Amino acid sequence: MSLRYHNKVVIVTGGSKGIGRGIVKVFVENGAAVVFCARGGAPGQTLEAQLNKAGPGNCKFVSCDMSREEDIKRLIAVTVETYGRIDCLVNNAGWHPPHKPTDDTTAEEFRDLLNLNLVSYFLASKYALPYLRTHQGNIINVSSLVASIGQKDAAPYVATKGAIISMTKAMAVDESRYNVRVNCISPGNVMTPLWEELAGQTPDAAAAVKMGENAQLMGRMGTEAECGLAALYLAADATFCTGIDLLLSGGAELNYGFKSQICLS
Ligand SMILES: NC(=O)c1ccc[n+]([C@@H]2O[C@H](COP(=O)([O-])OP(=O)(O)OC[C@H]3O[C@@H](n4cnc5c(N)ncnc54)[C@H](O)[C@@H]3O)[C@@H](O)[C@H]2O)c1
Repeated sequence: MSLRYHNKVVIVTGGSKGIGRGIVKVFVENGAAVVFCARGGAPGQTLEAQLNKAGPGNCKFVSCDMSREEDIKRLIAVTVETYGRIDCLVNNAGWHPPHKPTDDTTAEEFRDLLNLNLVSYFLASKYALPYLRTHQGNIINVSSLVASIGQKDAAPYVATKGAIISMTKAMAVDESRYNVRVNCISPGNVMTPLWEELAGQTPDAAAAVKMGENAQLMGRMGTEAECGLAALYLAADATFCTGIDLLLSGGAELNYGFKSQICLS
């Protein structure tokens, strides 16, 4: 099979596990050089070694906290020092806090989440754009289906994800003059360590996973690899798409479902 992103340089934030890991893997399988980050060390280093052994592309892990501006600057600088260019930035690192009502949520919790889920996407874009512009590159922002359909007891999370879609459109307008495309992906339920963690906070984790699977018309959750393929599509093939929100949801937003308060509680 031909390599669809051969010799291109990609940054993936939060690539040590979950959706980010799926994206890193698909780009390396398609010949790209990928720089990815996470806060910790070991899982990222292990993935780096595995993927470099498998090839045909290669990758470099950088330990970095995306909620810190200095770390974001360093991530971009290391990429340019190592590979000399940037063709694609995938903003993915984010967190879904445990579900709780607005009444129990503090301003500080909301601000911290905005900083990680939204401001980090803005800053990584800001520092990568000078390099993306010189190669007509592209940005892919990972939002969420809940930005469009809402979610119970998660107003701050949903707000950060909605803002990502709006920011994607605004940056698509601004960057079109440089031929830089800016798009986003909105996954529905994708089985990742984050999803498992949230299921683990419910009284019956197995039942929560089953409900999560049944939320899709396809009767299953999405996979990390499917997220990777969606990102590769936007980066490599979707050359006439900018400002779009690609729903990767297995049809979860379609058809009537159980929506009354009795069923929500
Ligand atoms: N899993 C889903 O069903 C789902 C659905 C819609 C959207 N999303 C979004 O997809 C993205 C990835 O989610 P996931 O389920 O793969 O989560 P995950 O927790 O399984 O993985 C998150 C990744 O981000 C990294 N990360 C977290 N905080 C970081 C920080 N401060 N600095 C650097 N790296 C950090 C983690 O180390 C990890 O590599 C998030 O933006 C999430 O909101 C997930």
